[in-house]
Formats: sequence, C-alpha cells, structure tokens
Amino acid sequence: MLAPAIETVRLALHVLAAAVWVGGQIVMMGMVGPARRIGADAPKALAQAFARMAWPAYVVLVVTGFWNLSAFTWSTQSSAWKAVLIAKIVVVVLAGLGAFLHQRATSKGQLALWGSVSGTASVAALVMGILLAG
Ligand code: HEM
Repeated sequence: MLAPAIETVRLALHVLAAAVWVGGQIVMMGMVGPARRIGADAPKALAQAFARMAWPAYVVLVVTGFWNLSAFTWSTQSSAWKAVLIAKIVVVVLAGLGAFLHQRATSKGQLALWGSVSGTASVAALVMGILLAG
C-alpha cells in the first residue's frame, strides 16, 4: 500500500532537508582542499554559500521533525523509542550549536572542533531518525 499524500510530503521534506544539512557537511569536507588551491578566499566563499542553504534546511528539519511527532501517540510508544527521540533532540541542538560556533570560529583548532561536533551530531541525528521511523 502507498503512503498517504500528506505523510509523503512530511517525510520527503524531512529527508530532503537532512540530505542538504548532513550531506552538505560531508561534501564540504571534500571541497575545502580543492577550493584552497583556487584561491585563499575560495573556502570562505564556499562555506558562506553552503551556510545560505544549510540553515534553511536546519529550520525545515526542526519544523518537519515536530510535524513527524504528530504522527505518533506518545503513550503507545516504547520507552526505547522515547529515549531515542530525546537523545535525537539533544544531538539536533548540538548539531546546530556546533555549526553556529564553527561559523564564528577564530582559529583553525576551533574550526576543526566545532565542525566535527556538528558533523558527528548531524550523522547521529540521521541514524536516530531511521531508528524512529522503524
Ligand atoms: C539534524 C536534524 C535532523 C536530521 C538529520 C533528521 C533525520 C531524519 C531521518 C533521516 C529520518 C528517517 C526518515 C525515514 O526513514 O522515513 C528521520 C525521521 C524522524 N525524525 Fe528526524 N531529523 C532531524 C531532526 C528532527 C527533529 C528536530 C525531530 C523532532 C523534534 C525529528 C523527529 C523525527 C521523527 C519522529 C522521525 C520518524 C518519522 C516517521 O517515521 O514518520 N527529527 N529524521
């Protein structure tokens, strides 16, 4: 049986935004080196262009994430499902905070630290999303 249209829209938006937010960060890791060879300012221009797409995707993830919750009844979900959901919300906040601090980093060490916090937390959120979808 096919999923109802509204459920398809909800999950398609959530997964598409996850592709931009998580996939974009992974692709950026591979782009920074080649961008540096183009010019000293190129990595920054690339990062700014990515940020203009990534932050709207993050907003879509949070909005559709809460929309996803409306498809479930809290009282009938298992404790494991509830624990994964709470852990997911924590890593989503960490992913956003890490990206925010990464953008404002003033040293290479801070850039690497906050970039890896955001990237790791984002992948964790993706994996937990798949667990929640069941
Ligand atoms: C960085 C942010 C996020 C990422 C990368 C992410 C990723 C994902 C992915 C890949 C899925 C699996 C979709 C599927 O297999 O059909 C999913 C499902 C889900 N996500 Fe997220 N998500 C994020 C934020 C959120 C937030 C903030 C919430 C809740 C407030 C949330 C709640 C859910 C729920 C409840 C599901 C299961 C949906 C269903 O099966 O109907 N997500 N997420």
